[in-house]
Amino acid sequence: HEQEIMSSEQTFIAVKPDGVQRGLVGDIISRFEKRGYKLAAIKLVTASKEHLEKHYADLKEKPFFPGLIAYMGSGPICAMVWEGRDAVKTGRVILGATNPLASTPGTIRGDYAIDVGRNVCHGSDAVESAQKEIALWFDKSEINTWKQASHDWVY
Ligand code: TYD
Repeated sequence: HEQEIMSSEQTFIAVKPDGVQRGLVGDIISRFEKRGYKLAAIKLVTASKEHLEKHYADLKEKPFFPGLIAYMGSGPICAMVWEGRDAVKTGRVILGATNPLASTPGTIRGDYAIDVGRNVCHGSDAVESAQKEIALWFDKSEINTWKQASHDWVY
C-alpha cells in the first residue's frame, strides 16, 4: 500500500559496546524488525581508534571526544544497516534522545540507559551521514539486496 515510495532509505544503526555487553543486541534488532524495517547488513566488529575517529570526525573538538573513542573501542559493536521508509529519522526516534535522561520510555535509550556516555546505541542523524557511515563500516559486498516476505504487508 501507499506505494513502495521511499521504502528503500538506509540508515546505519549500531549497538555500542555497553549494549553488546548488557545483552541488548537481540532486543534492539527486534524493535527494528517488528517495526517493519529490513535488515540489509550486520556484523560484530571491534573498531580501531582510527576507524572510530573517522566515524566521529565531526566531534573531534568536543571535550568528551577522547572518552567517547575509548568507550566505543572497549569491546565489540554490532554494526547494522536497516532499510525502509524514513529509516534515518524514524531510526533516531526508535533510539531515543542522545541524553538518555531526556529519552522517552518506550525508546531504546529511554528503556535501558541513564548516562549520555553509555547510551547503548548509535543511529545516523541524516541521510547524508547515513551514506557516509554505511560506506565507512561496510564493504558494498556486505550489503544485501533482498525482498522481505512481509514487505507487501508492511507497505
Ligand atoms: P552526538 O553525535 O551529538 O549524538 P548522537 O549519538 O545522538 O548522534 O554524540 C555522539 C555520542 O557522543 C553520543 O551518542 C554520546 C556521546 N556524548 C557524550 O558522551 N557527551 C555529550 O555531552 C554528548 C553530546 C555526546
